[in-house]
Amino acid sequence: MDSFILVTGGAGFIGSHLVEALLRAGEDVRVLDDFSTGKRENLDGSEALAAANGGSFQLIAGDVRDEFKVRDAVDSAAAVCHLAAVSSVQQSLADPVGADSVTHGGTVNVLRAAVQDEVPRFVLASSCAVYGDAAQLPIAETSTPRPMSPYAESKLAAEEACAAAADAGQITAACLRFFNVYGPRQDPGSEYSGVISRFLDAAAAGAPVTVYGDGGQTRDFVYVGDLVDALVRALQRPLQGVSVLNVGTGTPTSVLELLDRVEGAAGVTLERRMAPARAGDIRESRADPGRSKWVLGWKATTDLAAGLAKTWEWYGR
Ligand SMILES: NC(=O)c1ccc[n+]([C@@H]2O[C@H](COP(=O)([O-])OP(=O)(O)OC[C@H]3O[C@@H](n4cnc5c(N)ncnc54)[C@H](O)[C@@H]3O)[C@@H](O)[C@H]2O)c1
Repeated sequence: MDSFILVTGGAGFIGSHLVEALLRAGEDVRVLDDFSTGKRENLDGSEALAAANGGSFQLIAGDVRDEFKVRDAVDSAAAVCHLAAVSSVQQSLADPVGADSVTHGGTVNVLRAAVQDEVPRFVLASSCAVYGDAAQLPIAETSTPRPMSPYAESKLAAEEACAAAADAGQITAACLRFFNVYGPRQDPGSEYSGVISRFLDAAAAGAPVTVYGDGGQTRDFVYVGDLVDALVRALQRPLQGVSVLNVGTGTPTSVLELLDRVEGAAGVTLERRMAPARAGDIRESRADPGRSKWVLGWKATTDLAAGLAKTWEWYGR
């Protein structure tokens, strides 16, 4: 491997889609993952895909907190896309110190190795969770961050580490604040995986769904294929310093509207069980994607109906 892209967390939901896209484009890809939530089978076929497209694929099992492992994994990388994190808000609430050691500490570790190795580009998976309950909609990157969970605090701290390195001229960084990502391979068992995979899972099992509050709360759902497009652009575009960018569609969807659409995609009617609103649940979330369009030339192109159809197809595979 001469010059490759390192994807940490590459065996996860989003990471495995990114790896596939990079390999299809003929890139050399190395993955570092500890398989805590990611799965080896998400990367099945990666070697064959690499061979078919003139690239290469290498998988390193290891923890982003392990300094030596990280140094080996980063060595000679052309770019790093850092996705590894404790991606569950619930887990960060149950074990804030442990989760922070991965999500923030792991970022510092990978970033430091990248700086030492003079890797030119570092792309961080951040989250719209850093905004908390934003005062204004749509949410622009200029909104004051108001993290409401240890997970969000760790993501903000990870962004700040990237900004500090970029401000010191040590690396060029892009911190992408993902909104609610969905698509094939999302684990419905994880709290953070969100409402779409849980609704589709219920549709597949013929089970009832729980709607918290009045179901009028809105989210900005972005299809994983569109998100990967934003990541690839952030890895390849000429950028300077640090760029903090929203990755969302700009279109809000309420939970009840989503249920209707899931029923439409799956061709079923789901039994709805209403439950009290959850503490800390954000009422409205909608990205202002203007800066990503300007900086990356990126815009989501998969509407919810099309994204749900593709995701449902995966459930029925
Ligand atoms: N899914 C979303 O809607 C969403 C929204 C905002 C941000 N994000 C962020 O995007 C990234 C990817 O999320 P995802 O949804 O694919 O989650 P995921 O849990 O499927 O992926 C995370 C990957 O990181 C790996 N990992 C975790 N801890 C590790 C460690 N200590 N060392 C090495 N690898 C480790 C896991 O095994 C997994 O493969 C995460 O940083 C997450 O916080 C996701």
